[in-house]
Amino acid sequence: MADLFLKQAKQYWKTRPGYPQQLFDFIASKTPCHDVVWDVGTGSGQAAVSLASIYKSVIGTDTSKNQIEFAPKLPNVRYECTSPNMSMSELEAKIGAESSVDLVTVAQALHWFDHDAFYNQVKWILKKPHGVFAAWCYTTPKIDDEFDHVFHKFYAESKPYWESQRGLVDDKYTTVKFPFDPLDGCDHTGPFEFETKQPMSLDAFFTYVRSWSAYQTAKDKGVELLSDGVIEEFKKAWKEDTSVEKSVTYPVYLRIGKAGDAVKPAI
Ligand SMILES: C[S@@+](CC[C@H](N)C(=O)[O-])C[C@H]1O[C@@H](n2cnc3c(N)ncnc32)[C@H](O)[C@@H]1O
Repeated sequence: MADLFLKQAKQYWKTRPGYPQQLFDFIASKTPCHDVVWDVGTGSGQAAVSLASIYKSVIGTDTSKNQIEFAPKLPNVRYECTSPNMSMSELEAKIGAESSVDLVTVAQALHWFDHDAFYNQVKWILKKPHGVFAAWCYTTPKIDDEFDHVFHKFYAESKPYWESQRGLVDDKYTTVKFPFDPLDGCDHTGPFEFETKQPMSLDAFFTYVRSWSAYQTAKDKGVELLSDGVIEEFKKAWKEDTSVEKSVTYPVYLRIGKAGDAVKPAI
């Protein structure tokens, strides 16, 4: 899984959206203590940067060194490259001791993880009982009816090149395994809906598509998803010059819960 993001780290960093302040405010309002966050699958720091303005210290980890290289360097963010199947001793050495973290976040990456092993580690490292686990995904971009129609046809055609786990994103994380308790004052763990917007030119949109794991997989199989015909269809729907920016909206779906009294795995 980790390899899927190796080749397109630069496209990823250039075009992937950040997340709205409301999302971070909501999460911060649910974490009683704002000391330490572990942002897993941090990529090029899309969430880590915002978390750094709220929490004293952020540890951003990713299996891809290439992705981390593009992440902004901030005094209270430490980036670590980790193994895909991190052992408990690697967890302790690179992230911290048992019950030492206030919040674990995963932005647009939970669907790639081995959930049982990962949740064991999350429950071990979170402070009990109020440490918070928050994972969110965003689905497909929206621009206007004409463009969205062409995009949905294109996205459907790209389906064979996505890993099956991507279905969890298409399901807006409603079906992802989520063994955490609802937060105080909530009667469920989500998804809670947010929206993120960013200006994007058509050229940047094509770069965004090239950052997809599915684009890379198709390319490795000799298939160019952005064929000349597809590019023409997108250009027609865009109507403006390809360098003109339009506002792109991504719906964001957050699952959030607290550690509760977790059982300890052996270290
Ligand atoms: C879609 S990107 C999300 C990056 C960033 N968090 C964001 O919001 O855009 C998924 C990231 O998860 C990383 N990843 C995949 N499997 C991983 C694992 N087992 N442990 C840590 N990171 C992993 C990939 O290298 C990639 O950078």
